[in-house]
Amino acid sequence: MEIILAENHGFCYGVKRAVEMANEAADGKGKSYTLGPIIHNPQVVGRLESKGVSPIQEVADIDEGTMIIRSHGVGPAIYAEAEEKGLHILDATCPHVKKAQQDAKSVIEDGMTLVILGEKNHPEVKSINLWANNKGIIIEDEESAQKLQIVEKMGVVVQTTFSQFKFNSIIEILEKKSKNLKVFKTICNATQERQNSAVDLARNVDLMIVIGGKNSGNTNRLAEVCRDVGCTTYHIETSTELQLEWFNRVQTVGVTAGASTPDWIIKEVIETMKDFAELLAAEGQEEFKKGN
Ligand code: F3S
Repeated sequence: MEIILAENHGFCYGVKRAVEMANEAADGKGKSYTLGPIIHNPQVVGRLESKGVSPIQEVADIDEGTMIIRSHGVGPAIYAEAEEKGLHILDATCPHVKKAQQDAKSVIEDGMTLVILGEKNHPEVKSINLWANNKGIIIEDEESAQKLQIVEKMGVVVQTTFSQFKFNSIIEILEKKSKNLKVFKTICNATQERQNSAVDLARNVDLMIVIGGKNSGNTNRLAEVCRDVGCTTYHIETSTELQLEWFNRVQTVGVTAGASTPDWIIKEVIETMKDFAELLAAEGQEEFKKGN
C-alpha cells in the first residue's frame, strides 16, 4: 500500500505562528491564557492546557497574566479592556487578518460604505467589522449582493478564507452598485492551496484520509472536496480512529490535513497506516500460501 501526502497540508502560516507563540508563553514566566481556544483542534488545545495555558471565555475571567489573542483576531475594545486590567497581551492575530481589519477601518474613515464578504458569525468576520465600528454590511452570497442599494462610494473587504470563485461573481454584481468601488482583496491562499492539493490527490488514489478537528470548518471542507470528486474519504481527528478494514485491497491512500492540524498528529496517522499495511501484506501472503 502506497501512502501519499498532499503537497499542501496542515498548519498554515498564521496558525503555526499562533501555536508557536502560545508554546513560548507556556515556557515563560507567569500564567498565560488564550482568549477562546487557540485553534480548532482539541489535541493542540489539550496539550497547551497540560502546559498551563488555558482558554478563557472573556477578559473578565482573569485579573493577571498573559492573554493570547488567537489568529482570528478581536475588536479594539478587547485590547482596551485587557490594557486597563494591566494584562500582558500577546497578539497572535494572523497578519492577513490584521490587514483586513485595518482595510475595513480605513473604508469607514474615508466615508465609504463598507461591505464585508464572509460568514456573519465567524469570529474573524466579527473582528474585522469591530475595527469598522460594526458599520460593515456582511454578505455571503450573490443574492444578498443583488439586494444592496446603489451607493456613491463602496469599499469591499473579504474574509481571508472566502472562496475565490464566489468572490469573483459577487464583485461582478457589486460593480453595478457603486461607481466608486474599491476592493481590498484580503483572501489568503492557504485554504485554496490545501483544497487544490487535496482534489489533485483524491483524483488519483483509492482512498483519502483527511485529518483535523471535527469542529474545524476548513478540515470539513477538505473532506467534502475529496468526496465531490468521487473518492472514498474518511475524516479523522487522530490515529486511534483508523480502522484496518478501510484499507483492505486498497493500493494507494492519500493523506491531507486541515490548517489547524499539527505535524505530530499527521505523523502518528501515517505510522499507524504503515503498520496496517504490513499487517495486511502479511495476511495476504498467508492466504496466498494456503491457496497454493
Ligand atoms: Fe492566516 Fe491564512 Fe491561516 S489568513 S490564519 S494564514 S488561513
